[in-house]
Amino acid sequence: MSDRKRVSLPMLFDKMTKGIPLTMITCYDYPMATLVEQAGIDIVLVGDSLGMTMLGYESTLPVTMADMIRHAAAVRRGTPNAWLIGDMPYMSYQASDESAVLNSGRFMAEAACDGIKLEGGIEMCSRVRAIVAAGIPVMGHLGLTPQSVSSLGGFRLQGKSAKQAKKIVDDAQALEEAGAFCILLELVPDRVCRVITERAKHCIIMGLGSGPDAHGQLLIYHDAFALYPKFTPRMAKVFADAGAVIREGLAAYVAEVTGRTFPQPENWFGMKDEEYDELVRLVG
Ligand code: KIV
Repeated sequence: MSDRKRVSLPMLFDKMTKGIPLTMITCYDYPMATLVEQAGIDIVLVGDSLGMTMLGYESTLPVTMADMIRHAAAVRRGTPNAWLIGDMPYMSYQASDESAVLNSGRFMAEAACDGIKLEGGIEMCSRVRAIVAAGIPVMGHLGLTPQSVSSLGGFRLQGKSAKQAKKIVDDAQALEEAGAFCILLELVPDRVCRVITERAKHCIIMGLGSGPDAHGQLLIYHDAFALYPKFTPRMAKVFADAGAVIREGLAAYVAEVTGRTFPQPENWFGMKDEEYDELVRLVG
């Protein structure tokens, strides 16, 4: 049990107004969530990146609502106090406002999330309005939006030219006007992030690989702790090499089992002599 207060929307806006940077990290399961809770992280995103980090897919596209709900509920059990956001997976909201509201509601009802995130700008404003009207806080996601990786031409910086950047600025304004309480800017140039953050009126801007000027920062858990075997993107910083620690531990485990130094008596349970003698009698 911790004496941490449950994070609320007013608490997040209070930090933003006071210029205190907000902390956000992705998280996908119960043991990770207990650590995130102990660290006092403000916002936790159960991202559909779990398709790559936890399930080993090449992209986020195969992730289903069932995957997301199962992971989000596990994360909530581990972090009862963080502001928890469920990430709407591919095709859970693109088709219609109705599917968007129903699937957002599942995150709230079945996983006790505090809000949801969806990708896209002006073209998604109708979805944002419908979900907000249902009483569910929405985080937008602009810049590198992995569900559109095919049309974006790969996992690369977005908004490099003034024209492309202006589109992202317009999208951010439209999302805020549609009622998004927060927008994540992923992999846009630092000055684009600064312009959007300065122009935001009632909207928290979070950055991932987009420079220091957003109201807060997001990192992908597996990037921060060197747990994704395929690559670590340049925008990430490895804060602790958990992958190396686990690799070392596994090598020691293999060595001790094969060398017969594990297990030791403290790792097993015995039985009383009379019970053992009776067992021998019973099995003949
Ligand atoms: O799924 C996810 O973790 C995300 C981040 C990349 C922002 O959407």
